[in-house]
Amino acid sequence: MNHSGKLLPADGIYVAEVQLEKEGRWRRATVSVGIRPTFGETQRTVEAFILQFRGEIYGETIRVRFHHRLREEKKFDKIEDLVNQMKLDVEETERYFELQTNGWRDNAAVKRGESKNH
Ligand SMILES: Cc1cc2nc3c(=O)[nH]c(=O)nc-3n(C[C@H](O)[C@H](O)[C@H](O)COP(=O)(O)O)c2cc1C
Repeated sequence: MNHSGKLLPADGIYVAEVQLEKEGRWRRATVSVGIRPTFGETQRTVEAFILQFRGEIYGETIRVRFHHRLREEKKFDKIEDLVNQMKLDVEETERYFELQTNGWRDNAAVKRGESKNH
């Protein structure tokens, strides 16, 4: 992703939401900011893995809301290890949003004086 003229957080993997320019809604995503050391690259890129989304989009303008930093960008000896780690990152992202939703619901229930277990 072209990010010239934009302020970026430190290299790393993040829980985020992204908005495609042609679409109003915000979608959950795992976003990677960095140079992809596993592939010996040096150019900094921003890549979004959008949850519940099929297909690949390149060259579209998107907005990114960063929520939470998951980890540093790492150099992996095997691509397979990188792919496995990416799966874990995406699972962690799903958990983050589930907890956020459930936490909100539990909090609302507490305010109404309901028990969490019902
Ligand atoms: C969630 C996520 C985590 C990533 N973590 C790393 C990482 O730790 N190290 C790394 O070298 N690249 C990382 N990448 C970048 C991948 O190397 C990149 O997606 C891969 O090079 C495929 O690029 P391409 O779509 O241009 O082929 C990550 C990408 C995503 C989406």
